[in-house]
Amino acid sequence: MFLVFQEPQAIAQYVSERLVNLIKSKPHAVLGLATGSTMEPVYQQFCADAKEQGLDVSQLTSFNLDEYIGLSYEHPQSYHYYMNHYLFDHLSFAKQKTFLPDGLPENVEAHCQQYSQKIADYGGIDLQLLGVGSNGHIGFNEPGTPFNSRTHVVALCENTRIDNGRFFESMDEVPAHAITMGMQDIAEAKQIVFIATGDKKAQVMLDLYESEVDEQMPASMLKDHPNALFIIDKKAAALLPAAACEFID
Ligand code: GLP
Repeated sequence: MFLVFQEPQAIAQYVSERLVNLIKSKPHAVLGLATGSTMEPVYQQFCADAKEQGLDVSQLTSFNLDEYIGLSYEHPQSYHYYMNHYLFDHLSFAKQKTFLPDGLPENVEAHCQQYSQKIADYGGIDLQLLGVGSNGHIGFNEPGTPFNSRTHVVALCENTRIDNGRFFESMDEVPAHAITMGMQDIAEAKQIVFIATGDKKAQVMLDLYESEVDEQMPASMLKDHPNALFIIDKKAAALLPAAACEFID
């Protein structure tokens, strides 16, 4: 069930290669993108590989999973800023086709509805990158989020705010709400590449392994997905039984 790599860097190389191959075979692909420290080496490796191979990314469309409410796209802790910093500014993405939820929408309900609709209008997501929170959240879909949800506003769990607080100067600055793609939007991606690295993810990997497909463990929804890869490193796999792991050297 879990593909276990030695190091995050080996995961970055593997995932980058998958992305490059997808884009070569489908230059108009629609990517579902994620943020978080897990994705940093993946984007760094992908940028290097894409440059080295002269990959054309200008025809891609991308949809990010989520954004904090209350942060402008220029705020250094916004996911807009993250994406520009780690990916979009380094390659010739067509920025008008790199979509993220707007952290300062005029009409938040309409904005959420339009975001899911736009994903459908572009033909759905070909490959969705996913990280995971320590409580099993994907995107910002916290435990208990219905599996049939579309893009919506979330009140962030206190644990999630504490986990993500490391990027902010103080806890007061961590937004209380976010907009996230819904569980159903994620489930409809044709291919999902789930990544977890580091010892801080070991407990949630065990929880995920032991969980039934259950809305209280959002990442468990992926167990029912026909084309989801669970890619983790040795540290994240530390509590898993060997029988659940396929070790990649
Ligand atoms: C945030 C994001 C998630 C991400 C998670 C884990 O909550 N909304 O999409 O998976 O952080 O982040 P990290 O990779 O930094 O552990």
